[in-house]
Amino acid sequence: MNAKLFFFLSTLLLLIACAEQKPLIPLPDDGTTVFYDQGKKPFYHGVASGDPLATSVIIWTRVTPDNISEVAVKWAISSNSAMENPVKSGTITTNTARDYTVKIDVKGLAENTTYYYQFEALNGQSAIGRTKTTAADDKSAVKLAVVSCSNYEAGYYNAFARIAEKDDLNAVVHLGDYIYEYQPGGYGDSTLSRKHLPAKEIISLSDYRTRYAQYRLDKDFQKVHQMHPFITIWDDHEVANNVYKEGAQNHQPEDGDFMTRKEAAKQAYFEWLPVRDNATKDIYRTVKFGNTVDLIMLDERLAGRTYPVDSVSQSEFEAADRTMLGAEQLTWFKNELKTSDATWKVIGNQVIFSPCDISGLGFGSPVNLDAWDGYPYERSQISQFLANEKIENVIITAGDTHSSWAFEVPSEDGKSNIAIEIGTPSITSANSDEYTPLEKVLQAEKVLGVKNPHLKYTDLKNHGYVILSLTEAETIAEWYYVDKLNAPSDKEVLGKKYVVKNGEAILQ
Ligand SMILES: [Fe+2]
Repeated sequence: MNAKLFFFLSTLLLLIACAEQKPLIPLPDDGTTVFYDQGKKPFYHGVASGDPLATSVIIWTRVTPDNISEVAVKWAISSNSAMENPVKSGTITTNTARDYTVKIDVKGLAENTTYYYQFEALNGQSAIGRTKTTAADDKSAVKLAVVSCSNYEAGYYNAFARIAEKDDLNAVVHLGDYIYEYQPGGYGDSTLSRKHLPAKEIISLSDYRTRYAQYRLDKDFQKVHQMHPFITIWDDHEVANNVYKEGAQNHQPEDGDFMTRKEAAKQAYFEWLPVRDNATKDIYRTVKFGNTVDLIMLDERLAGRTYPVDSVSQSEFEAADRTMLGAEQLTWFKNELKTSDATWKVIGNQVIFSPCDISGLGFGSPVNLDAWDGYPYERSQISQFLANEKIENVIITAGDTHSSWAFEVPSEDGKSNIAIEIGTPSITSANSDEYTPLEKVLQAEKVLGVKNPHLKYTDLKNHGYVILSLTEAETIAEWYYVDKLNAPSDKEVLGKKYVVKNGEAILQ
């Protein structure tokens, strides 16, 4: 072959090779694309921020490309809402391995400062999010919204919409049951057009991812994430009902290996929630708001909860090896309490801590065995520690029950109060009056008050959230209730308000 011909043929082959592109593979439709607002492309799932510290905060988004690919996402954070003169910016790539979620721990920020952030990719821009760092070491006031139990199928997120409208919150604390694992109609209001996706009980990583994607396509859920940083913890339904370290009430052998399911659930949680990543994927942590509040978030499900019992008369009921936190977390918790220099110790707790006699209310057990009443040995350790170490100003928050509670938490001997417990109602998940006639619910509220003198307030029928306003002098707890779940509505009422003075574990 002469040199000219050789050059011609090799150039031709090169051109053919260049023309041969990798075929584009469309991103599979998980069923949620019908909810996409094309005006938000490719940031259909909005933005979020979370786990604020004095000089850093997590910012989050999800980008959805048309085809499977690596996507470069630009981010910027600015001290003004028009995103002028960003103080920090960068680019990060994401892909299928993390379900196209994007999470950045933005560092080097100013303390106690409001910031705005935005993402850019694939010729599109995200909504502008708002967030706030915490104070480093001053006594400034702190305001938190406390929420739990946001079952998509149970109703519209009117409570999230009301919280989104507030502009004086430091953060939203979500105590868990952020998603629910059930199949469509498994646990919700089946008259609403809010059926769960995927259309089955979620078990695999792909299932959990799709469920989060569906929840985060809701416009009110997006809005509340866009307007406030979240501090979240999981309860049971982020994996399966009444989960503990090695199993769950709603996990059957035919659902496959439990540990695989648990790891899938945890992976999707860390992908979709604006929580700070860590190697062990342990989630208990403390968020400090200056010297006013130490918010101590506990994991009462996956880190150390041991097997449940079915009855208080079971021999293992009071066994020392039955734990909610586990030895490692309990040691950490005690140390956080003892070394805290904040006025208020707010505990991000999931299930009710206070003893609560529910006998005669048709539950078949005199106490809720899934709550701290079901793990009496470890609760006693904590109660004794609070009393012996004279730890004051402890505000325990609780979710899980879908109902409102205010307890003066009694000491072991019942002679004094060791803490205050504030139970937040559900955002949407059903409570008593969805199942029982109203007269019976009102009667149950009365019975609970009589049987439990340390219970100062309960409401078993409303849905909404709690606002905690904390200053050096006092903590104010306010329960806000929405008027309906089965349709969008902007009506809410202040249902109850209590004041707790510094140094007094008394509800006024
Ligand atoms: Fe719940």
